[in-house]
Amino acid sequence: MASSLSTVTIEEIGAAATGPLWLQLYVFKDRGISADLVQRGRAAGCRAVCRTVSVPVQGNRERDARNGFKLPEGLDMANFRGLVQERMPDRRGTEPTSGLDRLVSEQFDASLTWDAVDWLRGIAGMPVVLKGIMTREDARLAVQHGVSAVVVSNHGGRQLEGAWPTSRALRDVVEGVEGKIPVRVDGGIRRGGDVLREIALGATAVQIGRPYLWGLAAGGQRGVERVVELLVSDLKRAMALTGCPSLRDVDTGLLAG
Ligand SMILES: Cc1cc2nc3c(=O)[nH]c(=O)nc-3n(C[C@H](O)[C@H](O)[C@H](O)COP(=O)(O)O)c2cc1C
Repeated sequence: MASSLSTVTIEEIGAAATGPLWLQLYVFKDRGISADLVQRGRAAGCRAVCRTVSVPVQGNRERDARNGFKLPEGLDMANFRGLVQERMPDRRGTEPTSGLDRLVSEQFDASLTWDAVDWLRGIAGMPVVLKGIMTREDARLAVQHGVSAVVVSNHGGRQLEGAWPTSRALRDVVEGVEGKIPVRVDGGIRRGGDVLREIALGATAVQIGRPYLWGLAAGGQRGVERVVELLVSDLKRAMALTGCPSLRDVDTGLLAG
């Protein structure tokens, strides 16, 4: 899944991708910017658009503020060149603030409701997925609004202090969708056993964020490939150790209590 805020364009990612590609979407106050990106994503070969709903406003990231976080020299938000300030706004005066925080508060639409999901379905021309669903009620509403899948996510615990762990929220969301749409989950998937647990709790698939970045930092492309290899081999080991020849054999019977 390619982020809206990626440092290479969706066209470059589409040209390089060999597997199924999804576009992750943040909705800007200027909806034209988001609509244009969705259209570009479709043209670049994206098969779904995944609207993130866990960032109506930015979480209180004190380290980012203290460090005045912004994109380093040589990197920009490539999809938005010429549209928004693509290197993130500068710190204002001496007030501690991160560029990302200012981007979110100045550009993202914090007032979106379910109408915006209907709007996105109307313009997307491809399946719409919501990432950041954490409650049974929102899961039901997602189904009612014609969403094709949901991702249970608390944004890696980086938005709301004290938010439920996603494994806990997953059970409610799975009940809420009543088997009508797939439920994926992210947050803290680091080992094969983590994948098994989420599948046993009813997830159709898991998503992974930070491990790819750690692999990239440690070893570039090879580092990312190694992260995937380690996760796959660890998953196979966990399946063997629990007597599950296929993921279809994984069910709640694996869980204690
Ligand atoms: C550096 C960083 C950047 C992220 N950027 C985005 C983003 O642009 N869009 C999004 O939906 N989630 C973003 N996330 C959240 C991840 O998609 C994911 O929900 C979260 O990291 C939890 O998974 P993990 O524990 O495997 O990292 C970002 C996370 C990190 C750490």
